[in-house]
Amino acid sequence: MHEDNGREMDALWGEDVIALRAENAERGQLFNDGNYAMFIHWGPYAQLANKVDGKTYYGIGEWIMNPRMANIPVEEYMEMAKTFNPVNFDATEIAQLAKDAGMKYIIITSKHHDGFAMYRSACNDFNIGAVTQFNRDPMKELAGACKELGLGFGFYYSHNQDWTFPGGANGPGTDADGNPATFDDYFVKKCLPQVEEITSQYGPIELIWFDTPGQMPKKYIEQLIEVVRKNQPNALVSGRAGHGLGDYKTLGDMDVPTTNVEGMWESVDTTNDSWAFAWYDEYWKTPGEILRRLISCVARGGTYMLNIGPRGDGSIPERAARTLRAAGEWIKRYPQVVYGTDASPWQQALPWGDVTVKDNTLFLSIFNWPASGTLYLPGLKTEIESASLLDGDRSTPVTFSKKHGWTCFELLPQAPDNLVSVLEVKLKGTPKADSTWAIDPEIETEIFSEAAAVENATLENQRWMEKFGEWKHVSRVHKWTPKGKATWTVNVLAPRDYIVDLTYSGEGRLVWGVTIENGEHIQNQQNSSHNYQRFPIGWINFPGPGTYKISVSCLEGDLSKASLKSIHFTPVHNIC
Ligand code: GLC
Repeated sequence: MHEDNGREMDALWGEDVIALRAENAERGQLFNDGNYAMFIHWGPYAQLANKVDGKTYYGIGEWIMNPRMANIPVEEYMEMAKTFNPVNFDATEIAQLAKDAGMKYIIITSKHHDGFAMYRSACNDFNIGAVTQFNRDPMKELAGACKELGLGFGFYYSHNQDWTFPGGANGPGTDADGNPATFDDYFVKKCLPQVEEITSQYGPIELIWFDTPGQMPKKYIEQLIEVVRKNQPNALVSGRAGHGLGDYKTLGDMDVPTTNVEGMWESVDTTNDSWAFAWYDEYWKTPGEILRRLISCVARGGTYMLNIGPRGDGSIPERAARTLRAAGEWIKRYPQVVYGTDASPWQQALPWGDVTVKDNTLFLSIFNWPASGTLYLPGLKTEIESASLLDGDRSTPVTFSKKHGWTCFELLPQAPDNLVSVLEVKLKGTPKADSTWAIDPEIETEIFSEAAAVENATLENQRWMEKFGEWKHVSRVHKWTPKGKATWTVNVLAPRDYIVDLTYSGEGRLVWGVTIENGEHIQNQQNSSHNYQRFPIGWINFPGPGTYKISVSCLEGDLSKASLKSIHFTPVHNIC
């Protein structure tokens, strides 16, 4: 395709053509090419907003009735749900927000673990139509608004957990008459017919997002998928259907991976910390953070779905809307960076930003602008045809040179875009890169444990909840022994001193050693904390350009508790 046509197509893909795409999209096309979706957690729990009887519970709001949060008895919760009256729900406003944000489809909770159906369900009364005075079907309205604006639409459905229907996982063990209820009761009477409803009454569905399969036997999941296939042959089934039966892999909540992930996958994340609306939760991701996480997912080979939690009255928290729109305005300026692009051949983020790829073109999204005006790209193996800095529709040619296998682009001292600037690099062939970690001559480089070769210690992924339901993910080296060593191979361009910091957790003071093979050794004692924190170790010198092996050891202190997340290198400037 002629390059200008390509750009024109990309711009259209960002705008008008989307209407056609959503309607005629092949199975998985919006997921694969759109790369960005809106997730919505909304139900009667939103009106509690994490406060019950005057007490605030911190954590994910849709879990409020669970014993791990406010422990609301089933009858009480079901009574509360009757007062749900979201008079300010405006489907068009929400769909417009998703569109302005640059998202290509919306997935909303049709029924969460609380068992409340947010649509009129004929097979079970615990639903918005039957028990509330809200005389509308918000799911119908949203499905319609998405269609109108050319967005895809789909449902979240909690297929295993149902906390109010007898027999649902973690639900009541007996029915209204006190007879024991089985999972099969729940499945036959509620789950299967509801999945039939949501896949047959809301027009074309992009994706059915099943969640938390737990111990659910395979035969049930197969039946659900059969219903989805029958009613919506174009719909994807989420990775959390269970037993590996979904169409793609859904990563852990809020997990944005640091190295490329193979296959078709998605990350789910939220604009603040809770999925459902929580009155206190004002910790919003900034537009820059949203773009960083979105571009990271695309550059790692995946799709990003970002959540909002409408209030109990249906309105959208203004800060969520503002931050999404600001990120969306950026995407409108650079749609070619996000839509239809694929994973970075570097396999991981680079110190100044990240790389997405379309055919033979690289898009370098620069989050940290180099003050010198020179951008250093390590290990590019394909020859460059041209490079230009984009600024909306304008593009300014950029000169470049090669030094010890690095490409040095001469940019401007000032970033053209105050959010994220984009350097477009056209190559003469298929993009190939050496993915060895490289230490940037100018910008701080953080290298993660997962890239290390580890001896006499253990490399492991760790995840934990910061607050209830707020997941954090790291790979770490732990279970240190006196001979333990984590070693990285790094590529250095600029011979100079670098400040070495380590990010770790532990107990009490620890002594860490950092050694360059056949080179300098430094060590230092620093404190530690139960959560990951960054501590300086000292300056170390790389005497010339080239490849080095650098290793970290935990030398003294409570080795059994020490857990290393990453090593940082910050170049020391203004010194001979
Ligand atoms: C978890 C939670 C749930 C939330 C979901 C979003 O599985 O149980 O409340 O809906 O993640 O990814």
